[in-house]
Amino acid sequence: TKLNEYIEKLASTHQLSLDAYEYVITHRDEEAAEWLARKARDISQSIYGKSIYVRGLIEFTNICKNDCFYCGIRKDASCSRYRLDQEDILECCAEGYDLGFRTFVLQGGEDAYFNDARLCDIVSKIHTLYPDCAITLSVGERNKESYQRLFDAGASRYLLRHETADRNHYHKLHPSSMSFSHRMRCIQDLRDIGYDVGIGMMVQSPYQTAHHLAEDLKFVETFHPEMCGIGPYITAKDTPFHDQPSGSVELTLYLISILRLIYPPMLIPATTALGTLDPVGREKGVLAGANVVMPNLSPVGVRRKYQLYDNKICVGDESAQCRHCLENRMDRIGYTVVTDRGDIKLWD
Ligand code: SAM
Ligand code: FES
Repeated sequence: TKLNEYIEKLASTHQLSLDAYEYVITHRDEEAAEWLARKARDISQSIYGKSIYVRGLIEFTNICKNDCFYCGIRKDASCSRYRLDQEDILECCAEGYDLGFRTFVLQGGEDAYFNDARLCDIVSKIHTLYPDCAITLSVGERNKESYQRLFDAGASRYLLRHETADRNHYHKLHPSSMSFSHRMRCIQDLRDIGYDVGIGMMVQSPYQTAHHLAEDLKFVETFHPEMCGIGPYITAKDTPFHDQPSGSVELTLYLISILRLIYPPMLIPATTALGTLDPVGREKGVLAGANVVMPNLSPVGVRRKYQLYDNKICVGDESAQCRHCLENRMDRIGYTVVTDRGDIKLWD
C-alpha cells in the first residue's frame, strides 16, 4: 500500500515530502504504528543501547509576561505565583547531583526578575560547583546577546519549543504580542551561538491539522535539532482554551516513532504530559522510540503551582521518589536510567 511505501521510504532515507508526511499521519493504522515503533526502538538501541538519559527538571519560576492561550501559567491565569531564589535552585542541584543527575534543566516562565545578571550568576555557580554536569535552560524568548551571555556563563543546551511550524496556526495559539518570526529567530540564534537546541510541539493543540503536524516534521527534518520535545496538548483550566479537548497519546506515540526515523540520534523525551494522560505513557513513549525522561527536581512546596495543564503528575512527590519511580518504570520495560550528561551521539 501507499502507506507502507511511505514508511519504508522514511526508514531508509529519513525524509519525505510534506504531502507524504501528511498522508502517513492521516492514514495511520495500528499495523503501521507497530511497524514504526519497532523500527524506532531498533534504531534508538543501535545508537543509545537500552540506556535512558535522565534530566533533573527545576521549575524555578511560574511568573510569566506572556499569555499563550494554552498555558496554565500564562499571565492572565489566576494561579498563585512563586519564584525560587538562587539558594533554592542550588539546593535542588545538590540534591539532584546526589541522586545521580548530570543534567539540570532550569525551566520557567518569562520572568523579568531573572535578567541576564541574575540568571548568569546562577548558571555560572552551577557550572563551577558541578563541572561534570550539563546546564539546560528553558526560559523562553530572549535576545541574542542574552543567549550569548548565558552560554558564556556555562549553559550549553536550550529548550525552546517552536510549538507549531505553521505561522497561521502559531497566531491562533498566541496573542498578537507574540510572533512566529521571533520564535524562529530565537531558535536560529541559539543554534548559531552553539547551543544544543531543543524544539518541539504539542500534539493536537487547538486548531491543529495533520498538515500542520506535517510541517512540524518537515521542520525537524531540515533543522535537525539535537532534541525534540513532543507531548499531547492537555486542557488547562483558567485559559481561553479551557474547553478544548486534550490530544491523544496514540498519535503522540506514532509521531515519536516518526521523529526517531527522521533524525535517528535526536534526543527525544517521554514527556510528563504523556505520563499525565496515561499511567504508563512514559513507558509507551520509550517503547515508541524516546530515550530521555525528565523527573521533577523542583521543591515539593512549589510543584502544584507549576500547573501548565490539568492533573499534572508528580506534584506531590519528593525528588528522590520521582527519580526512583522512573528508574523502576524503565527497569520494568527492560531499560536502564543512567548517570550521565546524556549528550547527543552524532553518528558520523
Ligand atoms: N516559558 C518557556 C517557553 O515558553 O519556552 C518555558 C516554559 S513553557 C511552560 C514549556 C512548555 O510547556 C511549552 O513549550 C509548551 O509546549 C508546554 N505547555 C504549555 N501549556 C501546555 C498544555 N496545556 N499542554 C501541554 N503542554 C503545554
Ligand atoms: Fe514523579 Fe513517578 S516520575 S512520581
